[in-house]
Amino acid sequence: MTWMPDSWRSKDARHIPEDYPDPAALAAVEGELSGYPPLVFAGEVRTLRASLADVANGKAFLLQGGDCAESFKEFHPDNIRDTFRVLLQMSVALTFGAAMPVVKVGRIAGQFAKPRSAPTETKDGVTLPSYRGDNINGAEFTDAVRAPDPQRLLKAYGQAAATLNLIRAFATGGYADLRNVHRWNLEFVSGNRQEDRYQALADKISEAITFMEACGVDGGGVRAIREVEFYTSHEALLLGYEAAMTRVDSTTGKWYDTSAHMVWIGDRTRQPDGAHVEFCRGIENPIGIKCGPSLSPDELIRLIDLIDPNNEAGRVVLIARFGADAAADGLAPLMEKVKAEGRTVVWSCDPMHGNTIKTDVGFKTRRFDAILSEVRTFIDVSHAVGVHPGGVHFEMTGQNVTECLGGSQEISEADLSSRYHTHCDPRLNANQALELAFILADRFKETRANGA
Ligand code: PEP
Ligand code: CO
Repeated sequence: MTWMPDSWRSKDARHIPEDYPDPAALAAVEGELSGYPPLVFAGEVRTLRASLADVANGKAFLLQGGDCAESFKEFHPDNIRDTFRVLLQMSVALTFGAAMPVVKVGRIAGQFAKPRSAPTETKDGVTLPSYRGDNINGAEFTDAVRAPDPQRLLKAYGQAAATLNLIRAFATGGYADLRNVHRWNLEFVSGNRQEDRYQALADKISEAITFMEACGVDGGGVRAIREVEFYTSHEALLLGYEAAMTRVDSTTGKWYDTSAHMVWIGDRTRQPDGAHVEFCRGIENPIGIKCGPSLSPDELIRLIDLIDPNNEAGRVVLIARFGADAAADGLAPLMEKVKAEGRTVVWSCDPMHGNTIKTDVGFKTRRFDAILSEVRTFIDVSHAVGVHPGGVHFEMTGQNVTECLGGSQEISEADLSSRYHTHCDPRLNANQALELAFILADRFKETRANGA
């Protein structure tokens, strides 16, 4: 079957709105976007694939994280900086613990569109289309705002471009220089255990760099000290936008989706004969596949065959999201099958989407302990099957929100209302995210000490 950026249009496309009031206006916007500059370059995508190949081969670790959904309202340089900063902090903790490179991928600069459990929402007898993400419609419950508006795609492109521009500046312009490791600390993490642990780690890193410089190595001359590689990702849900951003790379003649370095297929859109799999199989970007309880081992192999027929390390990232209680029984058969079939993939754990609960007063939340328990189970099962527990995938923010329960701040149900800002799912706050990274780092250190 020939693939084209538009070949998905003849397939069953779930979770893509069909109710744009003016389809011609949508087509015009997609046409306009297809002439816009790419947000990422093919060469960067190839570098990420090479790094993910290291993860697949057990030589590196993947840290992927960011908002459930970015929004126009929360778009602010401080938010971008704080998310970037906490990912850097987590990454140094994990690098130290695992003694391996950490591949850093943000759910950022394009993570707008959301699959929803119901296409409509009813309030006080009024039924309107569900909110689907700021690049499609608005959250406000009115007819006008809930109608899909193609102009939002242009605004989302602009926000993604500006976000990525700032991230690139942080990553290579001095902010992320390891010699600044003490400055990444977030004010509101101060005074608690995470701050103490982080300061102790930062001291060790500074000492090591000072020692190296005393030996004559110029830290500023070493790229790995001066800069970080930071990649972007989002769910490839709204395929009209993704197709418009898909271009042929002039050096290789292959297709790249230039909206992000990596994209993933959601748990609700991974039908082997569906539109999302069709689109993703033709682009060269690394492809994440969310693996939830309804995925059978045979279907997973069918998906891998479609996305990665040549078994190339770094092409596929399998993101398990079972929920703490279902993880052990659900994950083992998938890992065993993929291993038995000789497929080289990255295994990552999303401990968020299987652990969402609703409180009595209606807050969607997640328990820190359930999140931690799913990651622990993921590592245990990986070791038992004999595969590398390659990465984690978190919904998190650098802000001091109160959206997930527990952690060392002991956020309670009564605390949720104080700073509950998410537009979609509840995120780990900076403190909770860093705490998880330290716990994981300890776990990896233990594994190394035991020679496993
Ligand atoms: C997500 O990652 O935002 C998401 C919707 O996840 P899943 O497809 O795994 O439910
Ligand atoms: Co989510």
